[in-house]
Amino acid sequence: MPTVTESRCMAGSSCNLGQACRHLRVRRSQPGVGLTPVFKVRGPASLVLPLQCSFCSMPNIPQAPGAPVIGNLHAFTSDLRSFLTEQYLALGPVFRVSVLNHRYVVLAGPEANEFVTRKGTDHFVAQEIWDGVTKAVGGENPSMIALDGPRHAIVRRGLKPGYAAGPLYSRMVKLIGCQLDLLRQWPRAQPLTVFPQVKRLVAMLLGYMATNESAEDVMDDFIYLFKAMLQIHVFKTRPSFMQHLPRYTRSRQAILDMARRIWLDHTYMDDMVPEGGNFVDVVRRFHEEHPDLMNERDAIAALNGPFIAGLDTAASTISFLIYHILADRDLTAAAIEEADAVFADGVPNRNSLRSMIRVRWAAMETLRLYPPATVLSRSVSQGFRFAGFDIPAGTHCMLAHTVTHGLPELFKDPDCFDPERFGPERREHMQPNAFVPYGLGPHTCLGASTADLLFLIVTATLFRHYEVTMDPPGHKVRIKMQPLPSPDNRFRLILQSVRHPEPEWLLPAQPAVAS
Ligand code: HEM
Repeated sequence: MPTVTESRCMAGSSCNLGQACRHLRVRRSQPGVGLTPVFKVRGPASLVLPLQCSFCSMPNIPQAPGAPVIGNLHAFTSDLRSFLTEQYLALGPVFRVSVLNHRYVVLAGPEANEFVTRKGTDHFVAQEIWDGVTKAVGGENPSMIALDGPRHAIVRRGLKPGYAAGPLYSRMVKLIGCQLDLLRQWPRAQPLTVFPQVKRLVAMLLGYMATNESAEDVMDDFIYLFKAMLQIHVFKTRPSFMQHLPRYTRSRQAILDMARRIWLDHTYMDDMVPEGGNFVDVVRRFHEEHPDLMNERDAIAALNGPFIAGLDTAASTISFLIYHILADRDLTAAAIEEADAVFADGVPNRNSLRSMIRVRWAAMETLRLYPPATVLSRSVSQGFRFAGFDIPAGTHCMLAHTVTHGLPELFKDPDCFDPERFGPERREHMQPNAFVPYGLGPHTCLGASTADLLFLIVTATLFRHYEVTMDPPGHKVRIKMQPLPSPDNRFRLILQSVRHPEPEWLLPAQPAVAS
């Protein structure tokens, strides 16, 4: 009797990975999900059954042109949104892409956004994509972003207060103070590569927001680990053996140890943070109320949530925002004026930050042109028909939701940086399914209000206290995926001089002098 020794796709020329097609292997571990199995059977007569995996049996879906072996890797490491927009305009709302040996069906355009919003929960699941990240941070069960259906809804409702911006307004002194502490360490009159510096700033802010600690000791581990995790588990642009390299295992251990320590040392902060405590409080309360949905290991892993979701996304947006502010004299002047106004009446608050209108529009325009979460990865749980194509269960889909950001019928001169498009006269972002940087469907960003607040407080703190210039002057920024779209490392800034001294309300209170 011949034995099954390996499985291969026999689609021949329609499968551009040929003998190396891994799609089938994925399917074999999930029997009965729309796959016709293919077995190459070795026996005395080396019998081959010429069947196809379902991905390759969708040859009618157009394929984006790519290089042999690496497929569309180049696009995935440079300007992914523009690439997907070009493919959408050339091939329509459904097309295939490949990255190394991973292959995806892309759904794009307003019609895809509409479909995902209305029907997404019936057809897509997120779990498979995020499993690796959950395990990497020590969780046993799927984390919120990896859950689907009613379980996801319960966890999301429970953790929502921890991700909201509201409680941060009562900790504004600390949040401004820790930024100024870090800015003080930046060398003066010397070029500084913007993205890594902003990433450190955001890591520190998220640390204070989530746990009331700066996370300074493990900052480099945080930055390295979350980048590597996204590359290995989500984008798959790095091989999985990387997670066994000493650098990765060392950083992972440091993060696990820190999360455990924060968990064990934790005492509720409700009295200090009136709007429901800090993030650790919220996670702890949820774990105590729903131990079946979140055991202790899952809860400790969940403490990393703000970093996994917020570090690269916010740092990338803030870096591009600083670039565009410095690249345009009018916008530089507006940012300085708004920053001064925010600090004019003491500690920045909800109202004063709300008046940063031009910076807010610039941040929205930054999110439109450089959406850090360019695509959403999903598996198809139940097959469906879309735009005339049958997409079977088990297909790995990329929902290219931000392709709409570059369509001229939705955004005038879409390649032009034009914050005024968000003003009351144009409101281009208000068109249905057009402006979606924070995603679509049940997993829509829970930290959107926090991210918006970060954009404003970082810009206000920087432009209030320092005169900042771009280096080299007139630099044209380029997108580099690291792993989210970020400014290239040749974009640098120079802190020229101090514009205003640090506010008095930051100074430690002086002991009263007896008269
Ligand atoms: C520029 C900033 C940000 C952008 C563009 C962004 C975008 C997104 C997108 C597109 C999703 C959906 C992912 C999916 O459906 O697979 C998402 C989910 C999420 N984001 Fe953000 N995000 C940003 C910042 C943040 C920050 C700062 C935090 C927290 C402090 C955060 C917390 C979350 C969480 C917890 C989820 C998962 C929600 C769920 O699974 O229900 N995000 N974000």
